[in-house]
Amino acid sequence: MKEKIQEIEGVLRKYGQEHLLRHFKELSDEEKENLLDQILLIDFDLITSLYKKVINHEKNENQQDLQPLKAYEWDAIDNQEKQQLYDIGIKKIKDSKAAVILLAGGQGTRLGYSGAKGTFDIGLPSHKSLFQLQCERLINISRKCGTYINWYIMTSPVNHDETVQFFDDNNYFDYSKENITFFKQGILPTIDVNGEIFLEERGKVSMAPNGNGGCFLAIKDKGILTEMKEKGIEWIFINGIDNALVRVADPYFLGFAVKTGLPSASKVVSKKSPDEKAGILCYQNKRPAIVEYSELPVELAQKTNDDGNLIYDNANIISHLLKLEVIEEFFNYEIPFHVAHKKIPYTNISGDIEYPSEPNGYKFESFIFDIFSYVVDMAVLKVRREEEFAPVKNKDGEDSPFTAKNLVLNLHRNWLINSGVDSKLLDRKIVEISPLTSYNGEDIERELIIDKLFQSGTLLI
Ligand code: UTP
Repeated sequence: MKEKIQEIEGVLRKYGQEHLLRHFKELSDEEKENLLDQILLIDFDLITSLYKKVINHEKNENQQDLQPLKAYEWDAIDNQEKQQLYDIGIKKIKDSKAAVILLAGGQGTRLGYSGAKGTFDIGLPSHKSLFQLQCERLINISRKCGTYINWYIMTSPVNHDETVQFFDDNNYFDYSKENITFFKQGILPTIDVNGEIFLEERGKVSMAPNGNGGCFLAIKDKGILTEMKEKGIEWIFINGIDNALVRVADPYFLGFAVKTGLPSASKVVSKKSPDEKAGILCYQNKRPAIVEYSELPVELAQKTNDDGNLIYDNANIISHLLKLEVIEEFFNYEIPFHVAHKKIPYTNISGDIEYPSEPNGYKFESFIFDIFSYVVDMAVLKVRREEEFAPVKNKDGEDSPFTAKNLVLNLHRNWLINSGVDSKLLDRKIVEISPLTSYNGEDIERELIIDKLFQSGTLLI
């Protein structure tokens, strides 16, 4: 251990991070080993360059060069074409040319839930978790295609074990276990305003997940990219965990992407209002980009066309499709990181943990959509918000479990009405339709439902 310590002391001196061993003598042998191992894994050059970025306030120089990006309207596509898109998408999935990556490595701070977000129950009558809802949608599509879609679930070191255990405890929600791969995203040290890496505990470096864009590095490092290539996978669906209505592996969307001939596609919804806190898909410096709501100038956010519609209207719902080759190409470039000024608990000189009330340091994240600026162009499909977007972000109020639950139940009610059930029959009834029964409102047997509606107040179909 002595040699290891000497080597590490040298490295820490070089980068001005000697304080990481400040409490070393107070630690047990095991804690010492752990701390040294953590330090060895730190990419100090990266942290140094990220800190430089912070002090230079380096912003994206091209930030102001924004142009609107025209989305295809789902509602403007006729039924015949929709069927054609569906057939193309189903064929790709049947031929095992598509896989799904689920981004589930976030910390869900705003939700105020200590567990992995995917295990969260938004309060539907079935009490299905967000993981189960997505899994059952995949089962539905897999059944239609006669093959299980490979599902890659990204976790973080913080929630990995819990996530795997949750699937195991629930028998993988009857999905085929061998078609599910869990993989951990990377983590990066957090730093204070002077560029010093925080200690979370006396013997533990403060680390945070490296953002949902960490997915690309992780699939490369864990050999998943190679595996996908070997399997002949062409298209990757990428979606977040926190949309209770997300249409995972949507065959229509895949067909749409294939038909446009572009290497990437994204689903968006219309903004609720000019000041909705949603990232906007547009062009930045002539390439597709998602501009965070805080970075979109107010005059652009409010700008309307002659019909009175917002020009920058493509709200991101984290539902993307990328060709595998786009991901491979991305590794030829330096992956950008974004800086977040945050409240970060840390261990002070005396060895006590402090919980700051104001932002005191920085976390670094890469975003999944950073890859968009490396694609030539992107096909954007504007879908109906009430059908495909029920975000679960905050504990209460907007975009909370409560609003998401109601969006799901309202949609299911509309599915029944569209299948011919008289809306009067639905008065004072709560009906939840399992994704195993219906993926997007299809396969609803009116007669059977009407029969059941007479029997109970809350109905699970
Ligand atoms: P958010 O940006 O909403 O972050 O993630 P979050 O961590 O879930 O929530 P807050 O901000 O702490 O309240 C959008 C999607 O990206 C995933 C999340 O799991 C979610 O599906 N994500 C986010 C990751 O997979 N890794 C990350 O490091 C961050």
